[in-house]
Amino acid sequence: MSELNESNNLIKIKITHLIKFASNFKGIEVHVYVNGKFVKMNYHDDQFVDILRRLQQKDLEEVYINQLDCKRVLDEVQKSLSSKSFYDPKTTDEKRVETVDHSFEIIKTFVKQLGIDKQSVEILTSINQKTITLLNESPSIFAFIKRFKKNCSEEFMQCVLTSYLSSRVIDKFPWASIQVKEKASLASLLCDITLSKEDFEHLKNYELDEVPLDQKILNHPTEVSALLLEKRDIIPSETITIIEQHHERPDGSGFPFKIESNRFNQLSCIFIVCQKFISHLFDAEFDYEQRATILLKIQKKYHSKTFEKAMSALVTVVA
Ligand SMILES: [Fe+2]
Repeated sequence: MSELNESNNLIKIKITHLIKFASNFKGIEVHVYVNGKFVKMNYHDDQFVDILRRLQQKDLEEVYINQLDCKRVLDEVQKSLSSKSFYDPKTTDEKRVETVDHSFEIIKTFVKQLGIDKQSVEILTSINQKTITLLNESPSIFAFIKRFKKNCSEEFMQCVLTSYLSSRVIDKFPWASIQVKEKASLASLLCDITLSKEDFEHLKNYELDEVPLDQKILNHPTEVSALLLEKRDIIPSETITIIEQHHERPDGSGFPFKIESNRFNQLSCIFIVCQKFISHLFDAEFDYEQRATILLKIQKKYHSKTFEKAMSALVTVVA
């Protein structure tokens, strides 16, 4: 091992994610942070994956790679999502769900540290398309959740189900198009990209019991929107508006801006009621019979003329 004195250009990544796409990573420098210093791993004699597994055995979860190598990781993720690789007949649907979940986690990791670029958006679009295809092959979203909940994180499952449900609800409007659905899908994958697993738990408790949120969570819609505003050429403005508004409420009790009812974008209204439906569905442990109760809860919180059309389209889709 050799010592590295500076963290310049080093990007933190989970070891599990590197292992998942490790087949072509030979040559990538791996650094660990020990005793206040970055140390470069020497793997001339050992296999890349063997070293990573040994680090895992020492209870290490994350390592650091050079910023320049992130492109290689993204290329590998993109390759694993290519139709040829993804739809290989030897691959089970469970493995496919794991692949999209890991891909999503890697994109989240990189976007948080490096911002978003064209390739990340392409991968997010591919993740969304692949998952929607798997969802369309399931008898219902309830069946999908029950079958695949062990193969991916709850956060990812909620993102893709919000994307799927939003698309179905958008289809109820005369202005529906693939492009509009893609804008909502991108918002569902990006809106909480800066949040951790623990932040998700806090948010869940906030939605259920109105427990107070810390400033980091209250700021996440503006934090994500600031990350994306720099890339207006690749992120549609409607996607950014949804992200900014996704925790607002028509009575002005939401966050971060506490906007009033008449300032909601119609696409945001659709996205918000769909996201809340999926969130309540998880809370109800995917019990299909509780959908009427869930709809009533959402109706109560989003009772407003601005949300009427979105609400009625959601009722039609899930009833
Ligand atoms: Fe959020």
